[in-house]
Amino acid sequence: MWQTLKAHHAKVADRRFETLVDAARAGNFSAQTGDMLFDYAKTNIDADGRALLIELLNQTDVAQKRDAMLSGAAINETEGRAVLHTALRNLDGDPVFVDGADVMPGILDTLDRMSAFAIAVRDGSFTGQGGKITDVINIGIGGSDLGPAMAVKALAPFHDGPRCHFVSNVDPADIAAAMASCNPETTLVIVASKTFTTIETMTNARTAQAWMAQTVADTGAQFAALSTAADKTADFGIAPERVFGFEDWVGGRYSMWGPIGLSLMIAIGPDAFREFLRGGQAMDAHFKTAKWEDNLPALLALVGIWHNQICGHPTRAVLPYDNLLSRLPAYLQQLEMESNGKGVSMDGADLTVNSGPVVWGEPGTNGQHAFYQLIHQGTRVIPCEFLVAARGHNDALHHQHQLLVANCLAQSEALMRGRDLDEARSKVADRFTGAELERQAKHRVFAGNRPSVTIAYPQLDPFMLGQIIALYEHRVFVEGVVLGLNSYDQWGVELGKELATALQPVVEGAQSADNKDGSTAALVGFLQSNGV
Ligand code: F6P
Repeated sequence: MWQTLKAHHAKVADRRFETLVDAARAGNFSAQTGDMLFDYAKTNIDADGRALLIELLNQTDVAQKRDAMLSGAAINETEGRAVLHTALRNLDGDPVFVDGADVMPGILDTLDRMSAFAIAVRDGSFTGQGGKITDVINIGIGGSDLGPAMAVKALAPFHDGPRCHFVSNVDPADIAAAMASCNPETTLVIVASKTFTTIETMTNARTAQAWMAQTVADTGAQFAALSTAADKTADFGIAPERVFGFEDWVGGRYSMWGPIGLSLMIAIGPDAFREFLRGGQAMDAHFKTAKWEDNLPALLALVGIWHNQICGHPTRAVLPYDNLLSRLPAYLQQLEMESNGKGVSMDGADLTVNSGPVVWGEPGTNGQHAFYQLIHQGTRVIPCEFLVAARGHNDALHHQHQLLVANCLAQSEALMRGRDLDEARSKVADRFTGAELERQAKHRVFAGNRPSVTIAYPQLDPFMLGQIIALYEHRVFVEGVVLGLNSYDQWGVELGKELATALQPVVEGAQSADNKDGSTAALVGFLQSNGV
């Protein structure tokens, strides 16, 4: 199938896809679920290409594997685990079985406990030593940080709880900034760690504990924990009533729907948090039932595969024209790259196609004044994914929002159309002539024919954010199945962790750097001579 797709690509690669974009194409090469529109008309995928891509889904059994995932099968084969983040947003409580036991009563019970705690923090019935909680510090990293941090920012218009701070980096600058802006007597510290062993998180948690102990008599009373490791949270001194647990079949980067979302729930309230879950649940139902031609996660995945594995474009830019989503690219970097950045297939054989792409981005219009130059005129093609809301949250400034939307649409149009030499000449013909005109015009040519997709929606709210995040989660799943890899492990992060542990005594000077390679030993030497 890969060869057939590559042969099809070879046939159409030189065509300008702009010529495909007639009035009918917008309808034929877009799909909608609820209020969300996914437009992929501005790509070089035609009806034949789409049919071949859909055949790829059928040949790799995506439907069966989707159903296996949703029903609790142990599809994370290298860790022997189910993959059931969807159960966290299964608000109707329909049974989901893992090893013969229904996991839903436990999930809904934890959701109720989280809600009760969030309400108590928000209404002041849970207090710190100094009274009502004014600040929440979430200490976590990776999936225990990026999801809630992204979502708290995204849902700022709905934020009516205490201030939320997110500390992830072991760099002391991170926690120092949070401590400097909070009063320990009215701060709740949430230690978010699936394993409760991650060195950055545990180091920061101990630093926060010592900070609080300077003025607070019972520090444990102002700590909560989000983890699968109840024994370790107890050892840390956090009482069970403030420990919100989940199971190992929730992957870290898929975990914001459950306890890891506590900071978000405290920020926006349990009702709005449930709306977020409902949005995710709606996308699950769509993913499960819509045929591939209409299925947003499947189509988004197929566009990704077309651009990366077939066309050979190694990166994709995520460009939200919605400043509230400014942390979405960072969140998606972990979701997509930790999931599909693998070199072997499920059975251990080397992948015969490229792994998932490099994902990067910034909100528009900021990016336009930074890196879009390269997207428009650089020698490599970078497929772009735009997200745009019809309305913002500042009615009085709606005209400014319209300018934002115009910019978003202008970018995808410019990427597609480009500007040829004749048009470029006409732009400068009043200032230059002859060879200088040719030279100046060349610099103003845009190749165009550069693909993009657009995800459009009425307004960002908790439900829509839930839909967007679940859309991307399922996209990652589909891409992973088609590539034949395991999207749910992350062995590639282990080596660096092991070497960091071994290097710490070397950096501290307790061990010599002699057994290190010459480069590492020299860097240690330089940093030591400068005071590390
Ligand atoms: O090192 C990678 C990783 O395991 C991520 O997958 C995870 O999201 C992050 O570290 C944090 O892990 P934990 O929640 O166990 O602290």
